[in-house]
Amino acid sequence: MPEIETARLRLRHFTQDDFDTLFRLYSDAEVMRYLVPRTKEQTQASLVKHIQHWQQHNFGMWAVVHKDSGKMIGRCGLGFLDNTPEVELGYVLDKSYWHMGLATEASQATLKYGFLKVQLDQIVAIALPENIASRRVIEKVGMKYQKQAHYYGLNVVYYTLSQSEWQLDGE
Ligand SMILES: CC(C)(COP(=O)(O)OP(=O)(O)OC[C@H]1O[C@@H](n2cnc3c(N)ncnc32)[C@H](O)[C@@H]1OP(=O)(O)O)[C@@H](O)C(=O)NCCC(=O)NCCS
Repeated sequence: MPEIETARLRLRHFTQDDFDTLFRLYSDAEVMRYLVPRTKEQTQASLVKHIQHWQQHNFGMWAVVHKDSGKMIGRCGLGFLDNTPEVELGYVLDKSYWHMGLATEASQATLKYGFLKVQLDQIVAIALPENIASRRVIEKVGMKYQKQAHYYGLNVVYYTLSQSEWQLDGE
């Protein structure tokens, strides 16, 4: 299963040893402001899901490691959108590492993997309308706003990027 290196990050697979770091992230009210904070049990279930997803499909969430500090600072990758066959980009980073372009860097690498290695025709992304940072990341990686939609029981903005649009954008 592939791991990816970008200028400042290493995207590697999760292991059970990531539990404490992941729980710190998933229980942080500020980080999870637009998501739902998770208990220990929910974090453990998510961690198992992150690991198993790769074994079942050829893609999933990576643990994002900041190369300079050696720290695992979050997650980024691909998953199925709600209960659909569509594949969505997702990310969560430790707040000490926000505003440095790192989510954009990890997302660009994720899209490249999704289009070139998994050969996906389209990748989507959603965000709560008020999650401006997430929307900026989605826009900076070239995704196109399509509509307001309803997923995970929430009203969200929905963006898409096709493989051909991504290639035209210069990859
Ligand atoms: C979304 C998230 C991953 C972005 O990470 P990041 O590494 O800071 O993102 P980047 O630095 O690559 O880009 C963020 C962009 O949003 C902008 N931004 C951030 N907060 C903003 C705000 N409150 N208002 C306006 N712009 C904002 C930044 O200026 C930057 O845009 P720019 O490059 O044009 O200046 C991070 O905020 C996070 O983990 N949030 C909590 C989890 C989450 O909401 N995940 C997404 C669920 S859909």
